Amino acid sequence: MRLSEIIKRRRSVRKFKSDPISKDLLEKIMDLATWAPSAMNRQDWHFVILQGSQKDDFLKISTTAFEHFKPVLEKNFKDKPKIIEGMKIFFETYGNAPVIIMAYAGKLPTGQDDVWSVSLAVQNLMLSAYEEGLGTVWTDGVVFTKEKEINDLIGIKDRKLVCVIPIGYPAEEPKAPPRREGRIQWIGF
Ligand SMILES: Cc1cc2nc3c(=O)[nH]c(=O)nc-3n(C[C@H](O)[C@H](O)[C@H](O)COP(=O)(O)O)c2cc1C
Repeated sequence: MRLSEIIKRRRSVRKFKSDPISKDLLEKIMDLATWAPSAMNRQDWHFVILQGSQKDDFLKISTTAFEHFKPVLEKNFKDKPKIIEGMKIFFETYGNAPVIIMAYAGKLPTGQDDVWSVSLAVQNLMLSAYEEGLGTVWTDGVVFTKEKEINDLIGIKDRKLVCVIPIGYPAEEPKAPPRREGRIQWIGF
């Protein structure tokens, strides 16, 4: 597959088959993630890959995160209970993904969280996963409400959790959302 096809065909996947992913394949994808550019070439990102009982413990935390969003969702999706139910199930299960990846930022010399470099690495990760027939989705709703609990579970201190990425063989084929117009401004052409 050409890179342009990979970029256009990758979709956010929120339902996964239970098939396990081999450690070799995960290692290949994580290696490609780390070939992203990084601020001052510090490569200061940190990934935690969860499977098994610690993944289940993460899901317990994620389940409680839904309660935070429920009132807002009930207001915004008054006539669409199925959407709310779907989100509830996703928070509880993360689409039954066999593996969940936590992406942490490093620090810049200024002390700022380097959320940018890790985000580029995550894009590499998601595109590489797609090339290998795997699905992923960037999630951060759980980060906004439960970052401390997740970090305590994993034993991480002093790093910003940027996103949580379930990964697995897709059990759905989401449609591509159309591109929005007017987002690119040309000057001097
Ligand atoms: C910064 C960011 C935050 C996102 N947060 C969530 C999230 O919390 N939960 C979720 O299911 N999807 C999340 N997404 C995925 C988007 O909903 C998805 O990328 C978008 O709908 C476009 O679909 P596509 O990835 O299939 O092109 C997020 C994506 C980005 C880039």
